Amino acid sequence: MDKIDVNGSLMDVRVLFSAEKIHQRTKKLADQINHDYGTTETLAVLIVLNGAFVFAADLVRMLQMPTEIESIRMKSYEGTQSSGHIQLLMPLPDNLAGKHVLIVEDIVDTGRSLSFLWKELQRVGAASVKICSLLNKPLSHESKDLKIDYVGFDIGKNFVIGYGLDLDSKYRNLPYIADLISPQ
Ligand code: IMP
Ligand code: MG
Repeated sequence: MDKIDVNGSLMDVRVLFSAEKIHQRTKKLADQINHDYGTTETLAVLIVLNGAFVFAADLVRMLQMPTEIESIRMKSYEGTQSSGHIQLLMPLPDNLAGKHVLIVEDIVDTGRSLSFLWKELQRVGAASVKICSLLNKPLSHESKDLKIDYVGFDIGKNFVIGYGLDLDSKYRNLPYIADLISPQ
């Protein structure tokens, strides 16, 4: 168990997925995506910043088709709670009409962010939209309708950090994914 500083108090973290385990799972996801899309058609990879930047950097280097890499920023979280209010923090890239789009996300919690983004991509006329998320909290989903095409790991409702995932903008650089354990 490691200790990290959270707002001045030392908190215990428990490693859930090591760097090695994440790498192996990412390779499996990339194999599946390569198989499903083939190697000829261009895939527009839409990275949800900031959280997905580490995962996406590893994933896209394992993809074999031509790609166009785009990004988007959304905000829904305050601390460890979903605010329920989704905001686009930058305009959607304007070149996605007619494209096959793969959204790359760090984690799906309530699913509100991705439902919102999925609808936006339908609105601008993407040819197809699929979702790849490293982590998924199925017990927290609000709607049964959200389909996540590629999932790295299903987890429980715990708040996790590392490998791109933050707590108030910190800890994204941890090479592993860890559970935050509150002090006794
Ligand atoms: P949703 O709209 O509730 O699905 O929230 C998704 C977004 O909330 C993710 O893209 C993350 O940025 C953030 N989030 C949700 N759960 C966690 C967590 O356990 N750790 C860090 N960020 C999280
Ligand atoms: Mg995110």
